[in-house]
Amino acid sequence: MSRLFWRTLLAALPATVISASPPWSTNSTYLTNSTTCQAINYQIPGRVIARGTIGYDAAQGSYYSGQERELMPDCIFMPTTAEEVSRFVKTMAKREGRDTLFAIRSGGHTTWRGAANIDGGVTVDMRLMNQTVLSDDGKMASLGSGGRFHDVYHQLSPHNLTVMGGRVPSIGVGGFLSTGGMTFLSRKYGFACDNIYGYEIVLASGEVAYVTQASHPDLWLALKGGINNFGVITRFDVPTFSSDLMWYNLINYEYNDSVLAAQARAFSNFMEPARYDPGAMMGIFLNYAGGNFTVSDALWHINNVASPPVYDEFTKIPNQGGVAELASVADVVDTFGANILPTTSRAFQLDWSFRNAPADMYIKVIKIWEDRVKQLNDVKDIFIEFLLQPQSVTNGTNMYGLEPGRTDYAMMLMTATYGDARDDARVQATVTAIVNEQREVLRRHGLLIDFVYPNYADASQDPFKTWGAANVAKLQAASHKYDPHGVFQKKVPGGFKLFK
Ligand SMILES: Cc1cc2nc3c(=O)[nH]c(=O)nc-3n(C[C@H](O)[C@H](O)[C@H](O)COP(=O)(O)OP(=O)(O)OC[C@H]3O[C@@H](n4cnc5c(N)ncnc54)[C@H](O)[C@@H]3O)c2cc1C
Ligand SMILES: *[C@@H]1O[C@H](CO)[C@@H](O)[C@H](O)[C@H]1NC(C)=O
Ligand SMILES: *[C@@H]1O[C@H](CO)[C@@H](O)[C@H](O)[C@H]1NC(C)=O
Ligand SMILES: *[C@@H]1O[C@H](CO)[C@@H](O)[C@H](O)[C@H]1NC(C)=O
Ligand SMILES: *[C@@H]1O[C@H](CO)[C@@H](O)[C@H](O)[C@H]1NC(C)=O
Ligand SMILES: *[C@@H]1O[C@H](CO)[C@@H](O)[C@H](O)[C@H]1NC(C)=O
Ligand SMILES: *[C@@H]1O[C@H](CO)[C@@H](O)[C@H](O)[C@H]1NC(C)=O
Ligand SMILES: *[C@@H]1O[C@H](CO)[C@@H](O)[C@H](O)[C@H]1NC(C)=O
Repeated sequence: MSRLFWRTLLAALPATVISASPPWSTNSTYLTNSTTCQAINYQIPGRVIARGTIGYDAAQGSYYSGQERELMPDCIFMPTTAEEVSRFVKTMAKREGRDTLFAIRSGGHTTWRGAANIDGGVTVDMRLMNQTVLSDDGKMASLGSGGRFHDVYHQLSPHNLTVMGGRVPSIGVGGFLSTGGMTFLSRKYGFACDNIYGYEIVLASGEVAYVTQASHPDLWLALKGGINNFGVITRFDVPTFSSDLMWYNLINYEYNDSVLAAQARAFSNFMEPARYDPGAMMGIFLNYAGGNFTVSDALWHINNVASPPVYDEFTKIPNQGGVAELASVADVVDTFGANILPTTSRAFQLDWSFRNAPADMYIKVIKIWEDRVKQLNDVKDIFIEFLLQPQSVTNGTNMYGLEPGRTDYAMMLMTATYGDARDDARVQATVTAIVNEQREVLRRHGLLIDFVYPNYADASQDPFKTWGAANVAKLQAASHKYDPHGVFQKKVPGGFKLFK
């Protein structure tokens, strides 16, 4: 509980905001020696932020992890229209040299180094393209890729509408939707990417294309998991869903063996296909910090019904209370998000998927974590969260190669945050060893599935290779067709790439 309390205090501190007017605009006294930055600044005036400015430092400071913050692009390009992005891509594609490499960034929530930032070169920061526009009939929302879900939800809430998006406020539209998306609605409708109608994207040629299933079926499908491999996506057209209020329950428990046994039984039963409730999405959060273990459940339901019975087995476990409310999606995301640090010094994250297991298997996996995580107790500001959650129930409209309609797939996610870069190697090695041991237990029992969900994956995991050779071939064919010179392979080195 103490942990939750100071996290809330930290979250209440004012966030760094990039204002849309100077001082973020070009600092001509310090426009680096990058001739590429100078060329972009000349061609698209007022959109380039130079090193050494307040705007540059604010943009750098807004990444979630220290690993991303420490990369220093020569300059940051902040477009406001697809046409500006088009001019940028044309210029970058034509020029040669180290300073013509670039990164694409929306919310900046990926933890690992280089996913959405770059050392030297240019970072394209999409955050000024953050509009949310409802169609006349209210059935579709057009989301600028630089939006944050906090803003998106608050704009849709007054209409009693929502979209499939992140469960904490600051996650970016661009990375979340181009990569996948596990959402409150995902047990019913699949990953957020499965449901996207259309993409406005700037291709390698500079063409601004509008991609739908009818116009470009191969590219449309490739964008459902293809991340930054095909272009700079400037807008996503997504379905809206009616939603006035939803249920949110965050319960804290004492961490002891009887509570863990009850949690394991409850989760195993919850994941039984016979009990499948499409409106229910939840997570068990096992946390370790400063020598202490805690356990909390986040229980969500998309219907406007308090205390849905599907969660009875969790809520009956003796507990210390927490939050229980019917609230709008916007408010639930803000309340839940207050438990999460807005940025971290260092962060490292791995995920893996499996078929629902008997309760004793969950205990085995938890005990591996509990025994070994203590080895990291002397790491500065160590915090390790081991999260168990149901996986989205996909209908197969994405590049993941998962069996459609399966309700018994679940996902584990282990996240370490800590204070000092000197501990990088040790934290990463220990967490990786713990996860490998847990995966091995599941594999031995035939429960591990060879799928890595990209949104939470680390660079070391290479999710594409787990999606099946046929899907990788489709992705590569779409890359050859829409980006024949490999601009988004060679010039955008960060993130998960199709060609190594
Ligand atoms: C605290 C926290 C909570 C999270 N909660 C959830 C959750 O509830 N469900 C879930 O599924 N995931 C969750 N995630 C993971 C999240 O989905 C990913 O980190 C996601 O990539 C974040 O999107 P972003 O725009 O902030 O990322 P960024 O780091 O900006 O981008 C991610 C990747 O997408 C690429 N990209 C970004 N924008 C574009 C664009 N416009 N065009 C082309 N490529 C682009 C980038 O180059 C980069 O490789 C969470 C992460 C954190 C840290
Ligand atoms: C800019 O100058 C710095 C320091 O002199 C040098 O390290 C860097 O390589 C130069 N960058 C480019 C793009 O020329
Ligand atoms: C421009 O850059 C110089 C050199 O780093 C710095 O001293 C100055 O404060 C900057 N100006 C603005 C408006 O950010
Ligand atoms: C867009 O981002 C700016 C800067 O963060 C913010 O002030 C504004 O409210 C956002 N607009 C929308 C529509 O989300
Ligand atoms: C939204 O839902 C609430 C509660 O169900 C209702 O009172 C309100 O009128 C609805 N608003 C709109 C715009 O439909
Ligand atoms: C899955 O759902 C999406 C969004 O509703 C739809 O476009 C797609 O056709 C569906 N796919 C299948 C295989 O049913
Ligand atoms: C760990 O628990 C002890 C005893 O309850 C408490 O004094 C201490 O502050 C806790 N440490 C952290 C980091 O929560
Ligand atoms: C575990 O915690 C529960 C709930 O607080 C409590 O009822 C139970 O006695 C505890 N068991 C042990 C062995 O400490």
